[in-house]
Amino acid sequence: MKIRMEKLPITRAKAWSLIKKHNTHSPDLVHYLESEAVMKELALHLGEDSEYWAMLGLLHDVDWGITKHDVSTHLTKMPEILRKEGFTEYFIETILSHGYGFEELPALASKTRTEKIQHALAASETITGLVHAYALMRGNKISDMEPAGLKKKFKDRAFAAKISREVIREIELVGVSLDEFFKIAIEGIKKIKSEVGLV
Ligand SMILES: [Fe+2]
Repeated sequence: MKIRMEKLPITRAKAWSLIKKHNTHSPDLVHYLESEAVMKELALHLGEDSEYWAMLGLLHDVDWGITKHDVSTHLTKMPEILRKEGFTEYFIETILSHGYGFEELPALASKTRTEKIQHALAASETITGLVHAYALMRGNKISDMEPAGLKKKFKDRAFAAKISREVIREIELVGVSLDEFFKIAIEGIKKIKSEVGLV
């Protein structure tokens, strides 16, 4: 099941400097790197284009640094930033779709995700928060984190309560079970643990 093959207009290094141009707040950078890592691992699992999926994860909040003062403007600056770099409307719409359904975002609130790659991005960027919060609770340790432990945290609605379990559950629409996804998310983030302050 190949979803889309498109050439990326910029390198990963260029994307990283683009991100840092708009945001230097390190918890945000950690979130971008973890989203990249989970999307990459998921693409590898599915036999999809891992560079492309990773780039979606890395850039999904590229305008957050310049819009977070007014959340309702989040993702409104992203299209022009990415268009300037040569990204396609497909790539931009896929990124926009992680904001679909959010009441805070007027232009996106009434939209719903329809494509697998959209569900994949939304679920991936959302599960990063759960994995990271769980790692912090475990003394920053991810190296021996078990999917079963993460599953417990997923089920415990009081844990990291703001993280949407419903959005994480969208992974099932990609054809990946929740149990597989817990494993994929841990594996992906484990590979970059030192870059995101984990051990
Ligand atoms: Fe995000």
